[in-house]
Amino acid sequence: MGFNTELTRRLGIEAPIVQGGMQWVGYAELASAVSNAGGLGILTALTQPTPEDLRKEIAKTRTLTKKPFGVNITLLPTMNAPPYNEYAQVCINEGIKVVETAGNSPGPVIKLLKSAGIIILHKCTTIRHAASAVKLGVDFLSIDGFECAGHVGESDITNFILLSRARQSLGVPFIASGGFADGQGLAAALALGAEGINMGTRFMCTVEAPIHVKIKQAIVDASEHDTELVMRRWTNTSRLFKNKVASEALKVERASTTGKFEEIAPFVSGKRGREVFINGDKDFGVWTAGQVIGLIHDIPTCQELITRIEKEAIESVERTRKVFQPQSKL
Ligand SMILES: Cc1cc2nc3c(=O)[nH]c(=O)nc-3n(C[C@H](O)[C@H](O)[C@H](O)COP(=O)(O)O)c2cc1C
Repeated sequence: MGFNTELTRRLGIEAPIVQGGMQWVGYAELASAVSNAGGLGILTALTQPTPEDLRKEIAKTRTLTKKPFGVNITLLPTMNAPPYNEYAQVCINEGIKVVETAGNSPGPVIKLLKSAGIIILHKCTTIRHAASAVKLGVDFLSIDGFECAGHVGESDITNFILLSRARQSLGVPFIASGGFADGQGLAAALALGAEGINMGTRFMCTVEAPIHVKIKQAIVDASEHDTELVMRRWTNTSRLFKNKVASEALKVERASTTGKFEEIAPFVSGKRGREVFINGDKDFGVWTAGQVIGLIHDIPTCQELITRIEKEAIESVERTRKVFQPQSKL
């Protein structure tokens, strides 16, 4: 439909819309559907148990789309770190053109990927981290506001401030992430200086997202009040869908006299969270969702969603343009 931003030009995509990495959601089915619809679909490396499985998932995605797609590599603060460099090496060997990096100490992985000429889209929640990533030579920043799903950081700065800070101080193109679901949001992000948007929760609630339909319906039924911030006590704050387990986890976190993570660990188990997406029981474990659930009212295909967002963005800019015309011409 005619978008021309640094993001669309560099990545060779039609719509300035990225589907962010999503653990247990970012498989070939979703990434290819987003790319086929003109956005940038992204596979989530760590949904694959081994680098070899990632290689197979990339091959599968190539059978489903001829358009560009990327891979997310999330560097988690865990004791037994996954072999990040091996996942990155698979991206290089398979000719992936763009990688979304996120998380702690991304330097070595970014260096490896950059040496192979891969475009890096680095996601972060503070301008301080963004500035460090700029020094590492990233090509784009994905600025993730406090509204976002998942790891919100510890600064609680929403996108209205964060995006303008990015525009004022970074000197590297950026996209806006967290709280986006429609074309009005895209138009606003472009107006604030972004080259496009990144969406997670909105893409979870599409026909092609490979999760149980009851979870998509739970998102449709929810409001912007239905998220919970858990694990602040351990400076690892995560925005989760507000369900029985998340509320219980928060209660234990607040009441704990020891402050030991072990007390809350059973509640925030990633294993049970993964099951939620398969069995459709929204209360089976904790799962990630952003405040944007309040703006999501249907389950469209990725093509319907992206076409709608493009149309709304253009209408929104047209409407805004009228504000600058003398009243007699309206
Ligand atoms: C179910 C789910 C899982 C996610 N997993 C990851 C992940 O593994 N790595 C990552 O960098 N971001 C992850 N995210 C964050 C998204 O990539 C994106 O930054 C975020 O969803 C943007 O906020 P929004 O949900 O308001 O669009 C996840 C988001 C969701 C909804």
